[in-house]
Amino acid sequence: MTQYDVVIIGGGPGGYNAAIRAGQLGLKVACVESRKTLGGTCLNVGCIPSKALLHASEMYNEAMTGFASLGIKVSPELDLPQMHKQKADSVGQLTKGIEFLFKKNKADWIKGHGSIAGPGKVLVRTEDGSEQTLEAKNIVIATGSEPSRVPGVEVDQQRIVDSTGALAIPQVPGKLVIIGAGIIGLELGSVWRRLGAEVEVVEFLDRIIPGADGEIATAFQKALTRQGFTFKLGMKVTGATRSDTGVTLTVEPKAGGEAQSIEADVVLVAVGRRPFTENLGLESVGVKPDPRGFIDTDHYKTSAPGVWAIGDVTHGPMLAHKAEDEAVACIELIAGKAGHVNYDVIPGVIYTAPEVAWVGKTEEELKALGVAYKAGKFPFTANSRAKVNHEAEGFVKVLANAKTDRILGVHMIGPSVSEMIGEYCVAMEFGGASEDVARTSHPHPTRSEALRQAAMGVEGWTMQA
Ligand code: FAD
Ligand code: NAI
Repeated sequence: MTQYDVVIIGGGPGGYNAAIRAGQLGLKVACVESRKTLGGTCLNVGCIPSKALLHASEMYNEAMTGFASLGIKVSPELDLPQMHKQKADSVGQLTKGIEFLFKKNKADWIKGHGSIAGPGKVLVRTEDGSEQTLEAKNIVIATGSEPSRVPGVEVDQQRIVDSTGALAIPQVPGKLVIIGAGIIGLELGSVWRRLGAEVEVVEFLDRIIPGADGEIATAFQKALTRQGFTFKLGMKVTGATRSDTGVTLTVEPKAGGEAQSIEADVVLVAVGRRPFTENLGLESVGVKPDPRGFIDTDHYKTSAPGVWAIGDVTHGPMLAHKAEDEAVACIELIAGKAGHVNYDVIPGVIYTAPEVAWVGKTEEELKALGVAYKAGKFPFTANSRAKVNHEAEGFVKVLANAKTDRILGVHMIGPSVSEMIGEYCVAMEFGGASEDVARTSHPHPTRSEALRQAAMGVEGWTMQA
């Protein structure tokens, strides 16, 4: 039996960052992962392959529709097998990179399924049936999440797919129907729309991207509609019938009314994700997940001494960087340091075109909290760099406390906003005011000037619009 300071179950952004940080801090650490490669959902079937397809499909779309107006004549042809191959190559290189970092930081990757076998014990079973028990002073649960299901709509990864299947569709479907107008539905819908599919989105709520700022959601829906998306909002799916050639979905208004059927070549189920704790042995240490399956924690400590939990399996946004931040904080706490995550400053991004990015509170949240705020807004149509690049769709909105000017929330839709939201994360982490950003020099001509102009707008002295 091998004795470890920390054994982590799950090798995704939570687990692998925890293993690396533990190694850096001189702890003896092992990470148990049952997949053939490290990196979890994010690297294998999430963030990375989806961004590879989003980038490639955006390039294809630009070549098809954008180059001509710049004076570049091309005749693009889609090579979907190559598009999937370059995605797989990137995934392969990045997952290998994690393996290298494990070796560099002396973290052991124990291949197999891990389950807690009582206080301080993790049982690992490999595919060939062999077993070993690891002894651990601390166990960190980082088992992540899996796609939620819709009753009556059974995923077969051929005609009815979840996000994993949607990343590997071998031919562009004639019509793709997506259940759920959340981040996965709209990112992967964008991929297949750009490659030529007709895309229809069926959403239970009366709006898209719940949780994001309402004004941004409205602008985003308009942008996607211009790209050819159609939306059926306020609809619930009641069933699906599969044939050799497609799927018939039955839907009805959630408020009641006549049922309708929708024909699809492929249906993507993208209705959220649920925490994954199957066969984890939680009962052996008396940890009981909440009714939705999440593990409750207090500063990453579960109710069982020496058992910690981080990432998607715990409450909060299901995002790779949230898992990563928690990994570092949790290991630092285990090592007796002051690990900490600022949950008010976790950004969200949708990697479509235009992109959507935000951090902090939405206008709706501030109103509900009764916080008096001022808003500054700046459109990309008035930003010279966006204008010359022919990507002037969208705007930046800064929300600041009416009394103190402290930045409370920032919401953007437009070009490269995924890369620019970090500026406001830093400003907010430092407790910055909108005036701090408004008086900070930004290079000209860049899209980032729109961030500064929106901050100037909080006090009404925007110069360029
Ligand atoms: P996971 O990444 O799910 O890792 C958990 C790992 O644990 C898995 O590899 C699993 O095999 C392993 N495991 C589970 N149980 C056991 C066990 N008992 N024994 C051994 N191993 C086990 N987030 C972003 O921030 N940005 C994005 O752009 C983004 N894009 C996404 C796109 C898609 C299509 C999807 C599905 C998700 C995306 N996410 C994105 C979300 C992101 O992938 C997750 O938030 C993140 O992976 C959570 O990390 P985690 O370590 O908590 O869990
Ligand atoms: P989501 O929670 O973003 O959206 C799910 C949508 O489905 C919601 O709008 C919800 O109202 C709707 N819905 C739920 N049940 C429904 C039903 N029966 N019929 C119709 N609509 C229904 O979940 P999604 O898109 O599956 O993504 C899961 C998680 O993955 C997200 O929480 C997100 O954090 C993460 N992710 C992050 C990405 C990023 O950071 N860019 C990219 C992709 C995923």
